[in-house]
Amino acid sequence: DGTPTSATIHADTPGPVYDRRIFTQFAEHLGNGIYGGLWVGNDKSIPNTNGFRNDVVAALRNLSVPVIRWPGGCFADEYHWREGVGPKAKRPVKVNTHWGGVTEPNSVGTDEFFELLRQVGAEAYVAGNVGNGTPQEMAEWVEYMTAPAGTLAEERAKNGHKEPYAVPYFGIGNELWGCGGNMRAEYAADVTRRYATFIKAPRGTKILKIAAGANVDDYNWTETMMRVAADQLDALSLHYYTLPQGGWPPKADPVNFGETEWADTLAKAVHMDELITKHVAIMDKYDPKKRVFLAVDEWGTWYAQDPGTHPGFLRQQNTLRDALVASIHLDIFAKHAERVRMTAIAQMVNVLQAMILTDGKKMVLTPTYHVFEMYKPWQDATVLPIELDTPWYGKGQFTMPAVSGSAVRGKDGKVHVGLSNLDPNQPNTVTAKLDGLNAATVAGRILTASAMNAHNSFDAPETIKPAPFTGAQVSGGTLSVTLPPKSVVVLDLQ
Ligand code: AHR
Repeated sequence: DGTPTSATIHADTPGPVYDRRIFTQFAEHLGNGIYGGLWVGNDKSIPNTNGFRNDVVAALRNLSVPVIRWPGGCFADEYHWREGVGPKAKRPVKVNTHWGGVTEPNSVGTDEFFELLRQVGAEAYVAGNVGNGTPQEMAEWVEYMTAPAGTLAEERAKNGHKEPYAVPYFGIGNELWGCGGNMRAEYAADVTRRYATFIKAPRGTKILKIAAGANVDDYNWTETMMRVAADQLDALSLHYYTLPQGGWPPKADPVNFGETEWADTLAKAVHMDELITKHVAIMDKYDPKKRVFLAVDEWGTWYAQDPGTHPGFLRQQNTLRDALVASIHLDIFAKHAERVRMTAIAQMVNVLQAMILTDGKKMVLTPTYHVFEMYKPWQDATVLPIELDTPWYGKGQFTMPAVSGSAVRGKDGKVHVGLSNLDPNQPNTVTAKLDGLNAATVAGRILTASAMNAHNSFDAPETIKPAPFTGAQVSGGTLSVTLPPKSVVVLDLQ
């Protein structure tokens, strides 16, 4: 029954906390990411609460989304917060120049974002405008959101919210090397210092400042930011998208693919491990105490858009392949949890590797959603180091370890083990020694399907969803699991 994997799970030497903020989600003013996907405003035909659709909010609540990053992305460096507050009829209608050239009604602005957070039960990660905004505009936005008193606090009260909002995370621009202003690393690091100076938290509160980090393997960017600006920062970001079939621009078909494209995609996801390792080595040089955390605040698959969808809306279907991309990432983040204390999948609804797809009244949960749901016990759990001695899987030039995994001791006291079999053809038998753990029972769930490209559609919304898993046994300090091909398995041991 397949090539075996041997593993050791070190419950006797627990590691760092698996920060719940690793499950942060990114929601940008892009395509139907906000409008239609989250916000339906006065559209009475779609049940909503204060404009936000009830079905989507309920699905997000079920994931315990810890933090939402908003309003971009590239949109953030062109966004002027003043245009999105106050009476809706007075808000200017702008053009979303970066995403599709469509109109941006500004119906969702700061106060609506905080209403969304309230409904979902998440915290704010607001990305400021460094690209074409001033430090003063940024400072006033922070004041509008957080000040207990003063003219801007009064304006906020007039707009319906007397109490200051909590802004635990603030991004100093986005992708300053690209859409955020095409800056050189040295210039961006100086600009970051300058803008960071004026982000001030009211007494008794804290705003963690996150700098716009590197793209993929731009190690010089990380080096420069850390050397020049680390003392002004709480975190540095990293953006890396899984881009199969030759990289940028995205060309891969989200649904119609074969095994070569499967292997290409998963190998690209596995590459995140090397990228984080190298960026972290640079951060370690400047910040050996690991005060500044790495926020991988954009990750996920980026394919060619679904046929017939609006150009620039980045709408893509999501298959079992995306589920594996998600579990691979969540496992890699466990390995680096000491430094990686926040990540954000791109994006929440209807954009790129989305959790949820909507079309008018209809909503569907993607395979990626199901992985996030299965991995919920990882939130704020303690990482248990795992060693995996696994055979290699490959197709053509694309090779990788066949099994990905991570283990944690959850806040519920149970040990949770995630194991994914990347091989779409062969099962894999994992025998794991449990050091320091005498578990008596194991229960589990599996996400798999007969086709690599299995996905949920509005007509067949439950084609792929988690099912009970009975292929694991535990006895005498050993866990034995037979992973079916192309599967994500999550086990609970106690
Ligand atoms: O997520 C889509 C875009 O990808 C973001 O706006 C930008 O930051 C990145 O290039």
